Amino acid sequence: MDLYEYQAKDLFAAHGVPVGPGQRVVTDAGAAGAAAAEFGVPVVIKAQVKVGGRGKAGGVRVARDGADALTTAQSILGLDIKGHTVRRVLVTPATEIAEEYYFSFLLDRAQRTFLAMASAEGGMEIEQLAVERPEALARVPVDPNEGMDLARAKEILASARFPAAVVDQAAEVVVRLWDAFAGEDATLAEVNPLVLDADGEIVALDGKVTLDDNAAFRHPEHAGLADAEAEDPIEAAAKARNLNYVKLDGQVGVIGNGAGLVMSTLDVVAYAGEEFDGVRPANFLDIGGGASAEVMANGLEIILSDPDVKSVFVNVFGGITACDAVADGIVRAFGLLGAVHKPVVVRLDGNNAAEGRRILDKAVLPGLLRLDTMDKAARTAAELAAKGA
Ligand SMILES: Nc1ncnc2c1ncn2[C@@H]1O[C@H](COP(=O)(O)OP(=O)(O)OP(=O)(O)O)[C@@H](O)[C@H]1O
Ligand SMILES: [Mg+2]
Repeated sequence: MDLYEYQAKDLFAAHGVPVGPGQRVVTDAGAAGAAAAEFGVPVVIKAQVKVGGRGKAGGVRVARDGADALTTAQSILGLDIKGHTVRRVLVTPATEIAEEYYFSFLLDRAQRTFLAMASAEGGMEIEQLAVERPEALARVPVDPNEGMDLARAKEILASARFPAAVVDQAAEVVVRLWDAFAGEDATLAEVNPLVLDADGEIVALDGKVTLDDNAAFRHPEHAGLADAEAEDPIEAAAKARNLNYVKLDGQVGVIGNGAGLVMSTLDVVAYAGEEFDGVRPANFLDIGGGASAEVMANGLEIILSDPDVKSVFVNVFGGITACDAVADGIVRAFGLLGAVHKPVVVRLDGNNAAEGRRILDKAVLPGLLRLDTMDKAARTAAELAAKGA
């Protein structure tokens, strides 16, 4: 889960990372004016969207007085930044900046380790810096068993050419940032810019945090950070039923058992779809090993509720759960769902496939087509989706 900047800063502050003298999130311009009056001007007004490059898009602006804060907030609220509509802005006292740096901790999946990235040249887009002046960006692996202490933090900052005068102070902030990153089970904690202010203090003026959803069970309090408004309604419904579902932008609904099989099903459907107006898979849905009738019914119901879906491809390879049990599940799922108005193509193979196929054929379910191979079934599902679209 990605956090908004204000949520990231709340987390930082809870771990002792200095984030400046205050912040208020508001959804209307009047409240922004009021917050500015309370904080004292100038204030910075910042679009809260989960996407980078807000400043360049006009989503980060300074307001000199209360009236200015109101009109500035007005102009930022409703802005479209890379497809994200701004529904709230952060009002925060303007900091007098002496220098801007960059610092982040992240999970480096390719290297299978945590990584610290740091640069004494913050402010600009870090992706651009990494390409244009890679020598200015220090990349230092962090051993999760050793974590972070002041000595290691100082080494990282020195290799990133932070000015010697600020290294000691910045190192304390870095240790606290690691505490936030590790303690909250984040996969990213980025500060850009980390600044030296006019009073000589190190402050995180921006924050980007991604929390590891796989660790959510350790942090019940993180549930409150989810943004129900921004969530895809079908993904939310699937989550509520404990289904591994990801919405995609195609027309062929896909259900399979096992993540590997579902991923290859997505590939096969996309490939088959090239022949039929480029139809594509509409989702990822893995119903897992023990696919009961109820789980199958839940999965089918979620997929059939997606208006983009024109046909469904159920691709099951019987293993521990044999094909006859899966076939029973499909028959009972059709019973539970009542009328099914979209074509459902089923391919069953593996453990007890013959019996599973017999059960499906005998049930004569309206709209259900049974095919023996994955390729044929994918092609048929793609063709039906193209016809239905
Ligand atoms: N509280 C503040 N006081 C003074 N200047 C600020 C403050 N917050 C941000 N700025 C200035 O605005 C610039 C951009 O802000 P910020 O980093 O939050 O957004 P961004 O980097 O443009 O967007 P994103 O982080 O989405 O890429 C900062 O580099 C800094 O110079
Ligand atoms: Mg930034």
